Amino acid sequence: MLVNLLYQWIKIPSSIARFFAPYILRVFVGLILLINIRSFPLLWHVRVFLPLAIVRCKYHFIFYKHLLSFKPAAARHHAAVIQLESLCPVGANPFTFTVLCKSWASPDDCDFLGHLSNSSYAKIRDVALAQFSVKACPTFVGVGGCVILGSSHYQFLREIPLFARYEIKLSIGAWDQKWMYLVCRFTAQSKNEGKTKAKQNTSPVLPIESSTPSRIRIPTPMTPSGPESPDPCSDRITKTLVASLLAEDPDGPTVLCFSISRVCFKIGRITVPPPLLLACEGFSKPPSSGSYSHDAPPPHWIHPHTLRHSPGSLENYHGFLTKFWRDVAEEDRWWIEPLSGPVEEQRLANLAKLDAMQSVVNVCMDVAPYA
Ligand SMILES: *[C@@H]1O[C@H](CO)[C@@H](O)[C@H](O)[C@H]1NC(C)=O
Repeated sequence: MLVNLLYQWIKIPSSIARFFAPYILRVFVGLILLINIRSFPLLWHVRVFLPLAIVRCKYHFIFYKHLLSFKPAAARHHAAVIQLESLCPVGANPFTFTVLCKSWASPDDCDFLGHLSNSSYAKIRDVALAQFSVKACPTFVGVGGCVILGSSHYQFLREIPLFARYEIKLSIGAWDQKWMYLVCRFTAQSKNEGKTKAKQNTSPVLPIESSTPSRIRIPTPMTPSGPESPDPCSDRITKTLVASLLAEDPDGPTVLCFSISRVCFKIGRITVPPPLLLACEGFSKPPSSGSYSHDAPPPHWIHPHTLRHSPGSLENYHGFLTKFWRDVAEEDRWWIEPLSGPVEEQRLANLAKLDAMQSVVNVCMDVAPYA
């Protein structure tokens, strides 16, 4: 029926039309599907949940794989936990730890102006957040933990054109006893600078590292601007910051969008405090000399390691994360020390800024009351 309508509408000789129309239609439908392939039903779920599911099944998979070797259950548990722990960021400094995701502006994510739609950023950030979960806290994900998103703030700085490649860098901003702030940067290699200078500069340099935020001077946002000012104060601040980011390393990638998310870590309905979680996954302040690695783990690593390897299953570790850490006496809390010193200083400095942002958003919630 649809095909007949098409003949009448286009008014082409019906014999030719009859011959070609089905093909044209098929090609047309095929093209539409191909263009939107990344938005196919369930594809988002696969991209977000598959990495999590793989880590969650890893323990069981290895446990049952070793079933064939007729080893005792304790040995199988041991082997499976070793595999799970091999994914941990042992000895990483939380403030230099970054998760990188690559993507490109596919047509289904773009708006009618041919730019990545500003509403698509959150969708892609979800994929990056799943990557962050499995790379920053594999054992937590392994015992059924979830990273829960509490809030997000986006600052769109530049457009990402259709088909352009870009990178998403997630890093840890700060944390308190319940929440963790994640900083997300969408970056792309700027075309002109990238081409001319790429050869001289072989090592990729990040223009902004969360470990060195002192290099960026933030003008005080409290300066009131006149109501008639053509360029509001916040705009001027954004422009100054973007200019300073570009000035730092003109060859480096350009920040196209900047976002702050507040997440918490839940197992079932119970929140796991971020400092406890970080220490359990192996994060640590840097040692006084050398560096930590899987072969030379930080001193506190023995505690979560022992919990996970306690005979039988991951039940003990699960119980510790959800309940029993509360029973540990204040002076025996081994997860405090690894994140003290320089890490604690940085955390407090960052937290002051990020909490200020969160409280401003909270204050603004009554700006538009119910109509
Ligand atoms: C998205 O954000 C960019 C950067 O602020 C802006 O230039 C662009 O117009 C926005 N696009 C839409 C469709 O709102």
